[in-house]
Amino acid sequence: MSYHLTDEQILFRDTVRRLAADRVQPRAAEIDRRGEFPWDIFELFSEYGLVGVGMPEQYGGGGADLLTFCLAVEEVARVCATSSLIIAAQHLGAMPILVAGSREQQERFIPEIASGRKIAAFALTEPEAGSDAGGTQTQAIREGNHYRISGTKVFITNGGLAKTLVVFASTALSRKTRGISAFVVDGESSGLSVGRIEEKMGIRGSQTAMLNFDAVTVPANNLLGQEGEGFKIAMRTLDRTRPGIAAQALGIAQGALDVTLAHLKERRQFGKPLIEQQSIQFMLADMETRIEASRNLLYKAAEVVETAGFAQQASPDVTRYSAMAKLMCSDTAMQVTTDAVQLFGGYGYIRDYPVERMMRDAKITQIYEGTNQIQRLVIFRNLLEKGTPE
Ligand code: CAA
Repeated sequence: MSYHLTDEQILFRDTVRRLAADRVQPRAAEIDRRGEFPWDIFELFSEYGLVGVGMPEQYGGGGADLLTFCLAVEEVARVCATSSLIIAAQHLGAMPILVAGSREQQERFIPEIASGRKIAAFALTEPEAGSDAGGTQTQAIREGNHYRISGTKVFITNGGLAKTLVVFASTALSRKTRGISAFVVDGESSGLSVGRIEEKMGIRGSQTAMLNFDAVTVPANNLLGQEGEGFKIAMRTLDRTRPGIAAQALGIAQGALDVTLAHLKERRQFGKPLIEQQSIQFMLADMETRIEASRNLLYKAAEVVETAGFAQQASPDVTRYSAMAKLMCSDTAMQVTTDAVQLFGGYGYIRDYPVERMMRDAKITQIYEGTNQIQRLVIFRNLLEKGTPE
C-alpha cells in the first residue's frame, strides 16, 4: 500500500463502516426498490455529522480533509450508493460557496447546509448544455438590487428537495463561458418550479429533477464572486468534488467484491465451492487489483487537491488528478460490478441479491460530474500544461 492513513482516519473509516453496516445496509435494497429519497438516512447522517463532514468547522461542518471525506463516501457506498450520494451531493451544493463565496455569504449559507437543516443542490446542466457546460442558456438579468433568472436546468440531484441551490446563469450570453455567473438561490423562491422527476436506472433513492426558472428574483448579494466568474467557479468546484464521485465508485466496487467473495465461498457446483475454481480465482484477483490501484490513485488525488486548498488559480495538478481518479474509479466500478453479476450467475441477475443494484448504481459514476470522455479531455489538456517531468 503506498497511501498512508492516519490513526484518526482509520478510526473514522471504521466508525463509518460500522454505521453503514448496521443502519444503512439493511435499508439499501428497499431504497432502491421504492425509489424514494431516504429521509431516515439523511437524518441519520445529519445526526452523525456526515452531511457536512467535509465543510469547515467554523460553519458547523466536520472540518474533515478531502481524504477523510472520501473515506466516508466510500464506506457508505460500499453498502448503498444512493445513501453515499446524500453526502456527496450536499458537498457539491456547498462547494461553489466555499470556493468563491465571501465570508459573509459563507456565514449566511453554509451552517444550514453543513448541519442538514437545508438540502443543497448544484444546478449547472441544461437540456442543451450537458458536457458543454459553457453553452449555458439560462439568463440572469440585473434589475437594481436583484437579478431575475429565467431558464431550465435538468438532471439536478436533490432538485425539488434542495432549499439552497447554486445556479449558473449567463449575465452576458455573447461572452460564452466568460459570461456565466453563479448565484445562490432560495429553493422556495416564487417562479421556481419542479418539472419532471426522473425515473432512473440506478441511485434510485436520489431525487433527480428538472427545474424551471421563471423570472426568479435573486438578491444581488447572492452573486458568488464577480459577474462572469461562474464558469470558473463551476470548474473549480468540480475539481474538488470529482474525488467524491470517485470514492462513491470505489465503494460500490468494494461492496460488490465483498458480497461476491462471501457468495462464492458458500455456493457449490461440481462438488466443491465455486471459490475453488481457478477461473473464478483469476477474476477475483483482477477485481481486487483494479480496486486497489483505483484506491491508490484516489487517495493520492485527495491529497493533491487538499494540499492546493481553495486557491484562486486553476492548478493543472488538481484538475488532472481529480479527473484521473474519477475516470479510473468509475471504470473500475463498472467492470467489477459487471464481473460480480457474472460470478453470481443467474442469481446475479435477480433482485434478491445486491449485485444487480450495484451494477446499475455503478453506471452513473461514469456519467455524472462530467462523463468519462470529458475526464479524458481534461486529463489530456492538463497533461500538456504539466511540463516535463523532473
Ligand atoms: N479551474 C479553473 N478554471 C478553469 C478550469 C478549472 N478546472 N477549467 C477551465 N477553466 C477556465 C479556462 O482556463 C478558461 O479560462 P479563460 O476564459 O480565462 O481562458 C475557461 O475556464 C474556459 O475553459 P475551456 O476553454 O477549457 O472551456 P470549454 O468550453 O472547452 O470546456 C469542459 C471545458 C472541460 C469541457 C467543461 O465544459 C466541463 O467540465 N464539462 C463537463 C461539465 C460537467 O462536469 N457537468 C457535471 C454537472 S454536475 C453533476 O453531474 C452533479 C450531479 O448530478 C451529482
